[in-house]
Amino acid sequence: MKQITAIIRPERFEHVQDALRRIGAPGVMVSDIEGHGKQKGIEQVWRGEKFRMELLPKIKVQIVVADADVDKTVKEIITAAKTGNVGDGKIFVSSVEEVYRIRTGEKGEKAL
Ligand SMILES: Nc1ncnc2c1ncn2[C@@H]1O[C@H](COP(=O)(O)OP(=O)(O)OP(=O)(O)O)[C@@H](O)[C@H]1O
Ligand SMILES: [Mg+2]
Repeated sequence: MKQITAIIRPERFEHVQDALRRIGAPGVMVSDIEGHGKQKGIEQVWRGEKFRMELLPKIKVQIVVADADVDKTVKEIITAAKTGNVGDGKIFVSSVEEVYRIRTGEKGEKAL
């Protein structure tokens, strides 16, 4: 099993949510976060003064899926989240050792 962590633009969240619903993602965790990538936030001018917005608001979407579903899920997120501009976000994929459904005690992929 893998955890897919997608950092996306808040304004693309609904698209991503629709895409995940369409492909039948088993569950999702969503958090509001702040962060920056390569550009270290954007430089803005306000009342003639330049300042750096070091951290920009993003949404973190995390989904744990079976290995067989990783490629399809990542592809759908990219299609839904992309604008083609800097700051579109990033996707991290990491291994998940085990999953337990608390209610039933099931574990592994059937607990997803
Ligand atoms: N290496 C990283 N580690 C942790 N979080 C990251 C990393 N890169 C990006 N992020 C997170 O993803 C968000 C969006 O990053 P962003 O899309 O700006 O990446 P980028 O590498 O600068 O790509 P681009 O050139 O397209 O802007 C950041 O605000 C941050 O929360
Ligand atoms: Mg960037």
